[in-house]
Amino acid sequence: MNVTWLDPEQLDPRDVAGAVAVLEAARVVDAPHEMPITMSTFSTGLTYGWEGEPALGAVIRDAHARVAGVLQLTFPNRDNRHLGMADICVDPRARRQGLGQALYDASVVRTRAEGRTTLVTYSFDLPASVAFAKAMALERASDEVQREQRLLELDWDRLDRERLAAVERSRDYELLAMPGATPDDMVDAIVELSGAINDAPMDDLDIEDEVFSAERLRAFDQTQVLLRRRLYRLVARHRPTGALVGHTVVAVDQEQPWYALQYDTSVLRAHRGHRLGLLLKVAMLRWLQTDEPQVRVLSTWNAASNDHMVAVNEALGYEVVAGGIAWQRSI
Ligand SMILES: CC(C)(COP(=O)(O)OP(=O)(O)OC[C@H]1O[C@@H](n2cnc3c(N)ncnc32)[C@H](O)[C@@H]1OP(=O)(O)O)[C@@H](O)C(=O)NCCC(=O)NCCS
Repeated sequence: MNVTWLDPEQLDPRDVAGAVAVLEAARVVDAPHEMPITMSTFSTGLTYGWEGEPALGAVIRDAHARVAGVLQLTFPNRDNRHLGMADICVDPRARRQGLGQALYDASVVRTRAEGRTTLVTYSFDLPASVAFAKAMALERASDEVQREQRLLELDWDRLDRERLAAVERSRDYELLAMPGATPDDMVDAIVELSGAINDAPMDDLDIEDEVFSAERLRAFDQTQVLLRRRLYRLVARHRPTGALVGHTVVAVDQEQPWYALQYDTSVLRAHRGHRLGLLLKVAMLRWLQTDEPQVRVLSTWNAASNDHMVAVNEALGYEVVAGGIAWQRSI
């Protein structure tokens, strides 16, 4: 069973098409609530990556030479240089034939060859994924929860009540809308804010704090352009000092404009306790209602142990749609 590494300089469109078809067939079975996979999202992952760090791609074929399994393997370089992050997916029609094992083995060999010592992979909390991870001797390192908010069914009375209660505690703060790429004069402040996400719980994951920089923020902005996602960032400013102290970021897919993804929400430690997380998220819902009224679903992931963010999401009426698991293994 041969694993073929894809050449990012010369991606064979047949390999990309085969990989996308497998990922999409798996999505329909494993996570039909998720947004469909597209050629451009998959190719962007291999040519540019999430923040300018492309994934290595590999495929495995069935007896008819058709792509039947896909591996995406990322090696962070700005921080966490001990990690390889693998994403393994096998066509539902070709499962239990050893393809997943072959892709896993290839990811271990490649990760060791890069001098990395820990392999991390994420899965939905599904019986096949859990059984496979256990068979690969991966340890369950963190439990995650995916929630969705249905934007056509928002209970605005409830949201306004929550917002009014929060306003009482946040009189020293105001919110600024910052759509699209970050303005040049805001970059340093947004970089500092972005670091606040490192306080989110990681449970048993062997993951170090992420290092943010202007270069990384610009790479993130560029990824959104390549993925054809419109970016909405709301920032909380401390009026007495003018400091930017918190933000929430959402992206709306331009090809599938009913679907929005919640990215980071974080508040600098010194400014917590003023309900800014909730205020930012309610204001984001208002903004989406005005500028993207067609959005139906806003999807968000949190560690199950992230009590503060989970409490905000529950207050806003998010509903749990899936569980996820972060697995890891020292290699
Ligand atoms: C998980 C996944 C990659 C497994 O792929 P696969 O090609 O079916 O896996 P393999 O055939 O190599 O299975 C290797 C071993 O894992 C275990 N396993 C895999 N699927 C299983 C299942 N549905 N039930 C019980 N055990 C299972 C078995 O021990 C199996 O060995 P065996 O068949 O000799 O008993 C596939 O189901 C998938 O793509 N799921 C969605 C994506 C995902 O969860 N990926 C991340 C996994 S950490």
